[in-house]
Amino acid sequence: MSGQQSRLIERINKRDKVIGCYEFIYETLDSTMLQAKELAEKNFPEGTVVIAEEQTHGKGRNGRVWISPKGGLWLSIVLRPKIDISYMFIFSYIVSLSVAETLQRIGVNPKIKWPNDILIENKKVAGILIDSKSTDTEIEYIITGIGINVNNEIPELPENAIEGTSIREYLGRKVDIERVKRYLYDSLEKNYSIIRKSKENYVEILKKWDNFNFLKGRTVRIYDKSPSAPKLGKVIGINFNTGSLIVEVNSKKIELLDSATIRT
Ligand code: BTN
Repeated sequence: MSGQQSRLIERINKRDKVIGCYEFIYETLDSTMLQAKELAEKNFPEGTVVIAEEQTHGKGRNGRVWISPKGGLWLSIVLRPKIDISYMFIFSYIVSLSVAETLQRIGVNPKIKWPNDILIENKKVAGILIDSKSTDTEIEYIITGIGINVNNEIPELPENAIEGTSIREYLGRKVDIERVKRYLYDSLEKNYSIIRKSKENYVEILKKWDNFNFLKGRTVRIYDKSPSAPKLGKVIGINFNTGSLIVEVNSKKIELLDSATIRT
C-alpha cells in the first residue's frame, strides 16, 4: 500500500465493461499513480481504476506537483494494450479526447492544448499523466492518470504556469462528480475500443481530437537546442499518422514531438 493514511472506501467489481472493471476508491492517497502501479504489478486486469478523494503528493507532468484537494476527480487507470511501443503516442490522444468529450457532455466547451492539457477559455481545467512499463518493443502496462478540477478550489499556481479553472467555476454551480466520472468512463470505453480494433482506426481518434485543437492556427514560439532566440511558427495541425504537431516556420513545415519545445 503506497498511501500512509489511505482508507479504502469502496471496492467495486463491475464485469460488463473494461474501464472500471475493478474500482478502488480511497479517501486519501499520496498519488493514485503509485497505487495503480502496485495493482498493475500484481497483475490486475486492464481497466482497473484507482480513485482518491484527495491526494497528498499528486504528480503532474515534467516532475511538477499536482495539487489535488477534495472536490476534484483524481484517478489512474491500468491499461494493457497489445500494441507496439512505437504507437504509445495514441494514448495521450485517446485520454485527452475522452476528457474533452466528457466536459462537452457536462455543458462546457473545452479545447485541448497539444498534447493533453484540457482548457476552458484558455485556463487549464484538467491534466493527464501517462506512465508505462515496457520492454524494448512491447508495452506491459500503461497507467493513465487523469486529474479534473470539478468542484475543488483552484490552488495558487507558480508564476508562468498556465492559469487554472474548474468546472464549477465555469458553470457557476456545483457538478455531480459521479456524473463526470460516468461520462469519462463511457468516453474512454468507446475510444479505447476504437483503437483496440485496428491501427487503421487511429486516424478516427486523431480527427476527432483535432476538433478540440486549441493551438490550430495559433502562433507558437519554438525552443530548439540552438542558443538563439525562439523561432516563431504557425500551427497547422497534427500528423494523423504519427501524432506530431505540424508547424509552419518560414514557409516550411516542420513536425514536433516534444511539447516542452513550444510555448504560446
Ligand atoms: C499535468 O501536469 O497536467 C498532469 C496532471 C495529472 C494529475 C493526475 S490526478 C490523478 C493522477 N494521480 C496523480 O498523482 N497525477 C494524476
